Amino acid sequence: MDRIRIRGGRRLTGTIRIAGAKNAALPLMAAGLLTDETLELRNLPLLSDIDTLSNLLVQHGVTLTMRSVNEEDGHRSRVFGLTTPDITSTTAPYDLVRKMRASVLVLGPLVARCGFAKVSLPGGCAIGTRPVDLHLKGLQAMGAEIELESGYVLARAPQGLQGGEVVFPFVSVGATENLLMAAALAKGETRLVNAAREPEVTDLARCLTAMGAQIEGAGTDVITVQGVDRLRGAAHDVIADRIEAGTYAMAVAASRGEVELIGARTDSMTTVFDHMAEAGVRIAQTERGVAVSADWVRGVDVMTEPFPGFPTDLQAQIMAMLATADGASMVTETIFENRFMHVPELMRMGANINLHGRSAMVRGSQDLTGAEVMATDLRASVSLVIAALAAKGDTVVNRVYHLDRGYERLEEKLAACGADIERVSS
Ligand code: EPZ
Repeated sequence: MDRIRIRGGRRLTGTIRIAGAKNAALPLMAAGLLTDETLELRNLPLLSDIDTLSNLLVQHGVTLTMRSVNEEDGHRSRVFGLTTPDITSTTAPYDLVRKMRASVLVLGPLVARCGFAKVSLPGGCAIGTRPVDLHLKGLQAMGAEIELESGYVLARAPQGLQGGEVVFPFVSVGATENLLMAAALAKGETRLVNAAREPEVTDLARCLTAMGAQIEGAGTDVITVQGVDRLRGAAHDVIADRIEAGTYAMAVAASRGEVELIGARTDSMTTVFDHMAEAGVRIAQTERGVAVSADWVRGVDVMTEPFPGFPTDLQAQIMAMLATADGASMVTETIFENRFMHVPELMRMGANINLHGRSAMVRGSQDLTGAEVMATDLRASVSLVIAALAAKGDTVVNRVYHLDRGYERLEEKLAACGADIERVSS
């Protein structure tokens, strides 16, 4: 298993190119199941999660073409062509779904297109049990019959889905995306109330609209969809990854460096950058993206919330940045029940953190020291890298396959900015 070694104490300087958003790309790929024409997706990141979902889609009958694009600044991205003349299998098997819970996003499209789906329950993961009850209740509100059998969801709508009203008791990104795709081909009008407002949901709605869907209200908490008989192909550019951009911004601040994040956008990161500015980090929009620099960081309080609040996917990363600050910070996680797996590992590096239920009191210090640490989930693992950049001495992060799920060429991007970092194959 690969590991990453980092010798801390170097300021990050230069530029980092931000890739396409993983959490936009995954639902967009699932949308390929909704049409028998070709959906072309551009600016896809080179990530293992994308490959995992590709394998699942191919076994459903998607013909997938891929080409690499090397841009003038050396950035590499991928263009996928997804064409599904027929759905050849309506089953999403456990051995594929368990590798990545976002596979559950094929459920809505399969039921909408074929009237049937047998999708393995995704199971939990390190950050929580992560049920899919809201996905299922939403499909039932659209006329689907749902059964659970041997760890699988069986969803039936032999006469097709009917438009309906779905009121989410709390915000769910995945459930909003699954039901948005299902509603696009349902008969009649569907209203999604208390819908997720994340930019990745808006990006999906933009692509579905280009495919011929009739959607109003994406980006607000009420989305209305008029179902259509069929959807056509389209070409869509995946939005930049705001979580990757936020991650690198926090790494730059922790190293007291100065970096321009090429392709980053401030409009989907207002709350993130407001918190960082409050902590003393300088953030400025540039022609190419966002410039980030810091000489000093103070403690600030952070509470994760659905968009436009502070994203849970940046909670571990800002905690690592705040572990190097002058002063104390209260970090509260309100979305997932177990998303502090990075805390004991950060404490092994000398971070002063006390957990009180869903809140962590972080007392910053400039005396973090390198250590051998364990990655547990995607965002926890990158928070260890951020702390390692600021720590004195060497850190080795184990189980970096977690990193590869969500960060393309992380060590290359950081090394190009002066970090002393290398991947060690063991
Ligand atoms: C998406 O996961 C993201 N993944 C997650 O990013 C992100 O953390 C999360 O949204 C919140 O922003 C992708 O987009 C692929 P939810 P999702 O449904 O859709 C509970 C990363 O690091 N819930 O918004 O699974 C759930 O347990 C990943 O890139 C139910 O109870 O998240 C959680 O506590 C991690 N029942 C809360 O709602 C349901 O049916 C929010 O989950 C669905 C969710």
